[in-house]
Amino acid sequence: AMEQEDGIRQELGSLHGIPLFKSFIEGWPQVKAFQARPDDVLISTYPKSGTTWLSEIMDMIYHDGNVEKCRRDAIYNRVPFLEMKVSKDLSGIEQLEKTPSPRLVKTHLPVQLLPTSFWEKDCKIVYMARNPKDVAISYYFFHQMAKIHPDPGTKAEFLENFMAGKVAYGSWYDHVRGWWEEKQKKKILYLFYEDMKKDPRQEVQKILQFLGKELSEVTVERILHHTSFQEMKKNPAANYETMLPTLMDHSLSPFLRKGISGDWKNHFTVAQNECFNQHYQEHMAGSDLHFQMEV
Ligand code: A3P
Repeated sequence: AMEQEDGIRQELGSLHGIPLFKSFIEGWPQVKAFQARPDDVLISTYPKSGTTWLSEIMDMIYHDGNVEKCRRDAIYNRVPFLEMKVSKDLSGIEQLEKTPSPRLVKTHLPVQLLPTSFWEKDCKIVYMARNPKDVAISYYFFHQMAKIHPDPGTKAEFLENFMAGKVAYGSWYDHVRGWWEEKQKKKILYLFYEDMKKDPRQEVQKILQFLGKELSEVTVERILHHTSFQEMKKNPAANYETMLPTLMDHSLSPFLRKGISGDWKNHFTVAQNECFNQHYQEHMAGSDLHFQMEV
């Protein structure tokens, strides 16, 4: 089949063994050489793990819960996406160079590919992980609406590719485990989507403590309200509806789709679930990292 320009539905390339968009790989030399600043805070996730949610929370914290300030621009501009490069005008690196400090930076890179400058400058990192069954389903619907991805095929086909790590950013297992192991040595706050669903107040407090910031009870309350699924879904600065329609088609599946834990139950067959559980056990063996598959 003929491939279109500008990264629409192209097959993935490989970056040091990690499947990734070819346009991102073209921009890699600039990403690798990226100069972090000591007060940069990195938001790191495997795709579909709550990146946008965490980003909105962090931007609200940075602006002391000022809702108007957090409407100043779309979330993908307020928190630039480090390794993103789509055409010559869309580059995370160029956006970051124009962003005044203190910057929030988004990445999906596996830990071994993070530009070394983040470690040298000892930047704070907040990682958020989500259970792989919900990630797989969320990623499947995201492939339908976000045209930078290859066509996902059927749900069954996509699930196989996801388990085999044949999707953008590679194996979910390697990603969550890689960052978890790094956490022992570095300034990394490791959070879970499921905990954020269960008790967002407690998780926001963890973030505040990690950042060494204090906010009043009223402000925390405002942050929780503003970053709830329902509020973000209708907020054009948070819901990606301002993204180029050639890149995202919200009529196929909205960016803020369901926002729950356990939606995989509406999509996995019994056989798929058994197969997934088996695979999960094998790939998480020997790790003290555990996931809640629902809350
Ligand atoms: P679903 O597809 O399961 O609904 P990312 O930002 O990493 O791409 O993750 C997107 C997922 O996070 C989507 O999951 C989206 O709905 C969910 N999400 C975004 N904002 C949320 C919020 N405020 N509360 C709960 N889930 C949210």
